[in-house]
Amino acid sequence: MRIFKIAFMLMLTVALLCSFAFAVHHAPEALKHTIKTDTESIGRGKNLFDAKCKFCHNAYNTGTLVGPGLKGILKNTVLPVSKQPATPENIRRQLRQPFSRMPSFEYLSEEEAEDIIAFLNTL
Ligand code: HEC
Repeated sequence: MRIFKIAFMLMLTVALLCSFAFAVHHAPEALKHTIKTDTESIGRGKNLFDAKCKFCHNAYNTGTLVGPGLKGILKNTVLPVSKQPATPENIRRQLRQPFSRMPSFEYLSEEEAEDIIAFLNTL
């Protein structure tokens, strides 16, 4: 009987590992769909970007000002400096706990952060 128990545990482990691999593999795609796409959010995001990000980031090319140019930021597979996957989740994190030299924008509300991401998604 013990052998059955062991076999069962093994199967369970394999099943768990497979579903985990599936989740990890599909997570970035799923998250990309949480970006807001309405014109009001994008407009508010652009205004916030112009007020808070523009002097360090060019939105329309990938050249470096102080930080990297953000053209195509969410269309690429990885973020330019940290090389983390280019997901809204990692941009949210960059705003709250920046990778290295960038100042934190922790004071932005959830909604403001989402609006900025909606704008970045259009670049
Ligand atoms: C004072 C200059 C400065 C401002 C203002 C600034 N950034 Fe940055 N940003 C940087 C620098 C420098 C980097 C390069 C990574 C680092 O050193 O932290 C960076 C990196 C990034 C990255 C790439 C992170 C990665 O993982 O590769 C994103 C995305 C980003 N900034 C978005 C923004 C947004 C959105 C705003 C406005 C809310 C903003 N930044 C405001 C300087 C700035």
